[in-house]
Amino acid sequence: MQKLHFGVAYYPEHWPQERWAEDIRLMKEAGVTVVRMAEFAWSTMEPAEGQFHLEWLEKAIEMLAEAGIVSVLGTPTAALPAWLAHKPGVLAIEENGQTVQFGNRCHYCVNSPQFQQASRRIVQAMAARFGNSPHVIGWQIDNEYQRICYCPTCRAEFQNFLQTEYPSLDELNLHWATAYWSQAYSDWSQIPLPIGPHNPGLMLAFKRFISRSYQNFQKTQVDELRPHLPPSAWLTHNFMGWFGAFDHYTLTRDLDFASWDWYIGTGHHDHLISGASHDLTRGFKRKNFWLMETQPGNVNWTKTNNALNKLEARAMAWHAVAHGADALLYWQWRSALGGQEQYHGTLLDQAGRPRPFLGEARLIAREFAQLTDLISGSTIQSKVALLNCYDSRWSIEFQRHNNDFDYVAYFQHWYRALAERNLDLDILSADEPLTGYKLVIAPALIMLDEARVEKLREFVRHGGRLVLTLRTGLKDRHNALLTARQPAGLAELAGVEVEDYYALEHPIPLAGNLFPQGTAGLWAERLRLLGEKYTATLAHYGVSNGWLDAQPAVTVNPYQSGFVYMVGAWLDEASQKTLVNQILINASLSGLMKTPPGVEVRSRLRPDGEKIYFVINHTPTPQVVALPWPAHDHLSGQKVAGEVEFTPYAVAILTREK
Ligand code: GLA
Repeated sequence: MQKLHFGVAYYPEHWPQERWAEDIRLMKEAGVTVVRMAEFAWSTMEPAEGQFHLEWLEKAIEMLAEAGIVSVLGTPTAALPAWLAHKPGVLAIEENGQTVQFGNRCHYCVNSPQFQQASRRIVQAMAARFGNSPHVIGWQIDNEYQRICYCPTCRAEFQNFLQTEYPSLDELNLHWATAYWSQAYSDWSQIPLPIGPHNPGLMLAFKRFISRSYQNFQKTQVDELRPHLPPSAWLTHNFMGWFGAFDHYTLTRDLDFASWDWYIGTGHHDHLISGASHDLTRGFKRKNFWLMETQPGNVNWTKTNNALNKLEARAMAWHAVAHGADALLYWQWRSALGGQEQYHGTLLDQAGRPRPFLGEARLIAREFAQLTDLISGSTIQSKVALLNCYDSRWSIEFQRHNNDFDYVAYFQHWYRALAERNLDLDILSADEPLTGYKLVIAPALIMLDEARVEKLREFVRHGGRLVLTLRTGLKDRHNALLTARQPAGLAELAGVEVEDYYALEHPIPLAGNLFPQGTAGLWAERLRLLGEKYTATLAHYGVSNGWLDAQPAVTVNPYQSGFVYMVGAWLDEASQKTLVNQILINASLSGLMKTPPGVEVRSRLRPDGEKIYFVINHTPTPQVVALPWPAHDHLSGQKVAGEVEFTPYAVAILTREK
């Protein structure tokens, strides 16, 4: 991907063809370089079964190309046509047994043979017509996968899936401990889909089945498309950040890179939260990503659909690029006159005239064009990785034990404390190799096997700093309890074991010099030192339930050339910052720059070795940043040095003066 693209979602099928030229003229004027089209146009492309009308799309692609705008096509399977919805077995069945109503989106059963056949046919037709078009640079498959179906086909497919996962029913019974409550299965066909809480082994297997189902569905489309595409064309899907219905590492396996759709909803942007979503998406493939959709001003689907402040979206745009976005597309170009999203923010209003926001979009487009040569081809090189594991997340979500214990919130708790230090961060699958990192944090890595233990041991053995936390090493890959105390195979590295865990009703005090006013909330584990000579206790618990009083809460253990932290409690924000500070000092890591709160610095490395620094004031007030070195600001074209004032939402994109 050698270009920093700016674009919009465009639905030419909503408008008479006579209007298109004006739309395209306005797009060109606004600096649009790419449009995404067709992802909901199935009923226009195939109004009756087997009758394809793609000429309009071809015309739109050509008209755009004449204006120098390239196209991304979406396969239209997220919005199926009425003639297909009425075929038996196509619409999904909800948990309560009701068939999903036609007229919204994503209402298909992902395993339905009828639906898959129809999907393949429309994708075939599109691939044959547009696959080798020089104007179509890439494809988005479907749109925001999300539906879970409970129909008889899915149940039968689930049972088939289990037969590929387990060598025998006896093994399945053993791993799921089905002797418990008399659940033992004597035939595969007896195994149900989990509705509500169920056996933890079955629930985890169902999640994996959903991931596999979407992967297979996507693969049929990938296989239709690939043979028609030139090598430069790519395939992606627009995911939804931390959405947790399936394993995104599985789903991205057959794609070239990941994309995501970033919406704020009510309120304003918090870069410490959104930064994690960007880094998560980049980590799905360990590649730069596309921001396939983002909001121009406001959405229509939340409590108060307030607008972003003037220039907030520009700061957000550069923030996305700073975290690895190679394209940003606003959803959508113009307000549709009908349909469910009449009130959503757009660039053109119902009259087809520019909304005030278009001015800001133009500015972003102009700046992208100005900096495309500087930025394209650059990537993020981080020394710090946070490990993400869907299995661990689901295992905890099935049995939170403390209802307020949220895996993603805990993950973000770690991310925030690191991110505000202006470090470039990676979020990776817990199964990825760790070469090149200095510090690895594994929040609530409850799911452990020998391969993971071995990898983490190797990392620490070679000098890595590893942070383990509460809720680590309790489960095996089948979601059964391991027959060892937490953190199981990692205890040797940590120099501690967990004697017991406690869901907390309210915060409890910590004791010790490091966290004088500190508290632990939601969760606390009582650690026991295993007697290694150099294991240090960084914090004890204060007086609370008796069981935790004066017991170790946070420890650090030197292991070969590295160090392993064990953080047994969910620390309050201030203590978390203090701890992160200690960890960073120990790892000889420091942020890119010191900034006031709300001002972010991130970097991308160009192939020629030059580092690009993105300095962004995410606040609506002026801020002063003391630059550690004189620099060239590529946005203003000016030399900057010393104390630099950043006006509200101001952005500077710097390289160091030679
Ligand atoms: C999603 C969809 C878009 C649109 C937006 C509105 O992300 O992909 O089609 O509905 O939401 O916010």
